[in-house]
Amino acid sequence: MSLLIKNGRIITATDDYIADIFIEGEIVTAIGKNLPVKATQEIDASGMLVMPGGIDPHVHLDMPFMGTFSSDTHETGTRAALHGGTTTVIDFVLQKQGHSLREALNEWNGRAEGTAVGDYGFHMAVTDFNDHTKKEIKEMVDEGITSFKTFMAYKGSLMINDSQMTALMQEVKQQGGMVTVHATNGDMIDYLISQHKSEGKLSPRYHYLSQPEVTEAEASGRFADIADYTGCTAYIVHLTCEGALNAVRNATKRNQHIFVETCIQYLLLDDSYYEKDFESAKWVMSPPLRKKKDQDTLWAGINQGLVNIVATDHCPFMWKQKLMGAEDFSKIPNGHPAIENRMELLYSEGVHKKKISLNKYVEITSANPAKIFGMFPRKGTIATGSDADIVIFDPEKKHVLSAATHHMNVDYSAYEGWEINGKVKTVLLRGKIAVDNGECLVPKGYGKFIKRKTVN
Ligand code: URP
Ligand code: ZN
Ligand code: ZN
Ligand code: ZN
Repeated sequence: MSLLIKNGRIITATDDYIADIFIEGEIVTAIGKNLPVKATQEIDASGMLVMPGGIDPHVHLDMPFMGTFSSDTHETGTRAALHGGTTTVIDFVLQKQGHSLREALNEWNGRAEGTAVGDYGFHMAVTDFNDHTKKEIKEMVDEGITSFKTFMAYKGSLMINDSQMTALMQEVKQQGGMVTVHATNGDMIDYLISQHKSEGKLSPRYHYLSQPEVTEAEASGRFADIADYTGCTAYIVHLTCEGALNAVRNATKRNQHIFVETCIQYLLLDDSYYEKDFESAKWVMSPPLRKKKDQDTLWAGINQGLVNIVATDHCPFMWKQKLMGAEDFSKIPNGHPAIENRMELLYSEGVHKKKISLNKYVEITSANPAKIFGMFPRKGTIATGSDADIVIFDPEKKHVLSAATHHMNVDYSAYEGWEINGKVKTVLLRGKIAVDNGECLVPKGYGKFIKRKTVN
């Protein structure tokens, strides 16, 4: 099977030119103007942007959390991702405290293998670091799981303390991997939650007020300090605010380098979403949405090169699941749906509104995730020898986001009614047309596990 994409405007993190792309099997084999080749199938991409498939390195599919499971499975979540131009995701395996990393990996393999529609990798969340876990770090790296997620919050289920963090970083550094973190001060948040509850303050707004900016800024600085001491490569997930980014900025003053991810919601939504009575539960996530000034900080951070990636932290729950917290904000499952919307929202609000360039758009949605997480140049670019993961994007097409038309397995949209400039038209995953004009053409199980390399 071969495929020729003709006359598209090819955008990578560094290039912008019009050419044809020739694909044989799963791989791009030639790029050039008026390629003298005969293909089984041709796509005319005149007037279209042709970009590498999006990579979302922060998603939670079918994840046991807060007494329930996130509502998108590996099948529904990766299919929705493809509809939105994301061809690869990295999902989180969660170690259960008192159990091994291997057991957790087996459990997640059981859910994802043969069901994922799009490509996927795994981060390993280390929630219990002990002598046995230490031995398993190298095993995981050999399996292609080279990033280790930690939680400085969610005490009693996911949180590790600073001594475990230090020991984990020492071992991960040894094995050439990376430690990533949900950086918020878990003890302080737990205290504020119980204080609010004891005062009868039980509405979703108190979720927001229990996680003030300082809880994130403090933990980001502490994490940076431990990473600096151990020399471990470090990455902060879902960074939301000025205080936390300033902690990273401070770390650069001692020549430290920390990777930073933010998520689409922190760029576009603010704390006014917590003024809607219980409907605010749709946006209950951790960390919570912040202030307008924090959005400005994050957009600037992207253009300053301090914020490297825009992900989603996709962790959807049905409205019925959100209602678990109707009487108590601390029981609302944390997370919001965005896996399908990230690429179009960021194009519309970022590129179309001239906040970021097209090259920057590809850099933060695809090239950087591929490089930072050990998949480049197989993923993250359009080049000969790379996987033919390609998005053909119509920059002129307008549409409106809605739960009535999205493909995520969740009964509300966090972006209901948002008017979008630009739409995904066709998506290729490893040379196959995976989505065309809103129709998914690859079956359940087409998605492959991507073994990632160490980059240190
Ligand atoms: O609210 C969130 N972010 N839910 C998913 C788990 C996490 O903290 O990333
Ligand atoms: Zn066990
Ligand atoms: Zn988190
Ligand atoms: Zn998350």
